[in-house]
Amino acid sequence: MALELTAERKQRLAALVGRYPIKAAACLPALHVVQEERGAIDAEAIEYVSRLLDIPAGRVEEVASFYTMYKRKAPGRFHIEICTNLSCSLMGAEHLREVLARELGIQPGQTTRDGKFTLSEVECLASCGTAPVLQVNGEFHEALTPDRVKALLGELRSRAAGG
Ligand code: FES
Repeated sequence: MALELTAERKQRLAALVGRYPIKAAACLPALHVVQEERGAIDAEAIEYVSRLLDIPAGRVEEVASFYTMYKRKAPGRFHIEICTNLSCSLMGAEHLREVLARELGIQPGQTTRDGKFTLSEVECLASCGTAPVLQVNGEFHEALTPDRVKALLGELRSRAAGG
């Protein structure tokens, strides 16, 4: 099935393309817009951006696979991305990753069977001063401790149960 975007997203893409001297320069923001629609950058999304910007699909694929901000598979309802880069690691991020893995019953890169949680380990989230940090669906949670992580999971589970 060919990728179809909302009219609003098509307009945003057209504006993006017009903003750059060469179309290819709009690749990163264009992938963001397509990801909003799809939840991930799959083969159809790659093809769409390739045609939109007149660049080879292989080039778009390279860009999409290089940056962790582009998801290759749609994540669960709550996508937990924990930073384990240097500052966060020094502040106990690996232990927090273990707490998350144990509580959720999954390893980084996996989604719970009910589709509610995806756990990912990511590189620096540019919030080193408040390490250790994680993001849930792009929202930052900083200066974490094991107890705060457990409390956060409790809150997310309640939200998931509420529909
Ligand atoms: S090292 Fe974790 S936010 Fe920079």
